[in-house]
Amino acid sequence: MDFTDQRLSYEKGSLDQQSIPASPFELLKTWMDEAIAQQVQEPYAMSLATCGTDQKPSVRIVLMREITDTGIVFYTNYESAKGQDISENPNAEVLFFWHELERQIRISGSIAKIDADKSAAYFQKRPHDSQVGAWVSQPQSGEVANREVMEQTFEALQNDYPENSQVPTPEFWGGYEITIHEIEFWQGRASRMHDRIVYTRDSNSNNVNKNDASWSTKRLLP
Ligand SMILES: Cc1cc2nc3c(=O)[nH]c(=O)nc-3n(C[C@H](O)[C@H](O)[C@H](O)COP(=O)(O)O)c2cc1C
Repeated sequence: MDFTDQRLSYEKGSLDQQSIPASPFELLKTWMDEAIAQQVQEPYAMSLATCGTDQKPSVRIVLMREITDTGIVFYTNYESAKGQDISENPNAEVLFFWHELERQIRISGSIAKIDADKSAAYFQKRPHDSQVGAWVSQPQSGEVANREVMEQTFEALQNDYPENSQVPTPEFWGGYEITIHEIEFWQGRASRMHDRIVYTRDSNSNNVNKNDASWSTKRLLP
């Protein structure tokens, strides 16, 4: 297949360094609100790239579940491939792409587990079948002989934990927060003259809190 004649002109918006907020969290929330308003499907789905000591990057989609004062939170199996990578190397990148808005957001930061209590509170909020599913997928990304094996495990667990019973929160499952060090906002423009503004957290600032941390911005060539 050849896609070399396929091209779109991006003309839906612009990004001006003079009129952006001092805090990238404000712009992140504004863009997220606009994506929701434009009915982007699951705008909080993001590509997460990790790299362990084998030096081989891996990328997959996870769902951002929260924007905190310092970063973003997602939930997963701590013994998954990504969990293994993160235990070896906490540096990661995240990417959102919303075609409907011709926007990309790229985040780089360091990952750490969130409090077990907070993970348990979220796990207990999830639908019953998703809770059971988390127990089935252990270790996530481990090999399974066939689908029947998975379904039998699912059914056995459904019997152990019928609807309306409490499914225990697995120790191997929980949240990670990516503390944001750098975040780039990309707005597509015509003639490949895209707008790219990157916020970098001031490394001299010990204070990582949103309201206190200072950020510098610069424009990047498209
Ligand atoms: C739309 C979408 C949302 C997903 N959300 C999550 C998620 O929040 N957490 C998660 O562990 N996996 C999620 N997945 C599955 C992951 O992409 C991946 O298959 C899984 O986490 C195993 O990745 P690993 O390579 O880290 O073991 C999602 C996949 C898609 C397509």
